[in-house]
Amino acid sequence: MEQNTARVGVFDSGIGGLTVLSACRRIFPSPEYLYYGDNPNAPYGAKSEAEILRLVRDAVGKLCEEGVDAVVLACNTATAVCAEALRSEFSVPIIGMEPAVKPAAATCKRLLVLATPRTAESERLRKLVSASAARCDITVHAAPRLAGCIERALSFGEPLRLCEHLPQGDYDGVVLGCTHYVYMKREIGDFYRARVFDGNEGAANRLRSLLGKRISGTDDHPINRACFGGGEVIFLGNGAETNKKLYNTNKCFIKF
Ligand code: DGL
Repeated sequence: MEQNTARVGVFDSGIGGLTVLSACRRIFPSPEYLYYGDNPNAPYGAKSEAEILRLVRDAVGKLCEEGVDAVVLACNTATAVCAEALRSEFSVPIIGMEPAVKPAAATCKRLLVLATPRTAESERLRKLVSASAARCDITVHAAPRLAGCIERALSFGEPLRLCEHLPQGDYDGVVLGCTHYVYMKREIGDFYRARVFDGNEGAANRLRSLLGKRISGTDDHPINRACFGGGEVIFLGNGAETNKKLYNTNKCFIKF
């Protein structure tokens, strides 16, 4: 039987992936979205690779049990550590995050890449940076506590002093290598007086080009949208209540 409603699972260690979900719903509104935020185990950024793989594998498994057609790893850390391993274990397409180094390097001269420790030290980011190093000067900074502080500030109202996490420096571009940082995009831009780049639209576009073709036979053509389901996001996991509250009410989030 021909399937005409796509189901997409979106995963993050916590609330950061909601910013990616927002981009996906804007750019590719027709699928039914399931969001799994592993809030009780967030943040992931300084955990061991083995532990991150165990947690993400478990989450992707749960999304697959729900019959998703694709999974978006809306987490740079999970992508850097385990996207390749999971692609060989699961049959559904797995779309990862790519820090927007390439587009940023095309227009900036001094670039700062902010990321979690696991992403900052990853081979994946190293390759991205070296591919653009001839075009501009790139500094990668690991911020060990920033994602956790953003998670707690937005979920529980804990105070957040951004300047304690950001390195001093003169940059004309900043790449956000963690989806939690996207909530602070404007503030980070103000801090450096620089342009700020994230990979959210890139991930949403990859999802659309992949599933638009796979499910409907065309690239999510408007005519086909009519027979797609769409609808509300389904929240999974122990932190589902937090995600839902945030998705519906967080002002920072609604801006996206
Ligand atoms: N939002 C995630 C990322 O993009 C994870 C941050 C964390 O849990 O440390 O890296």
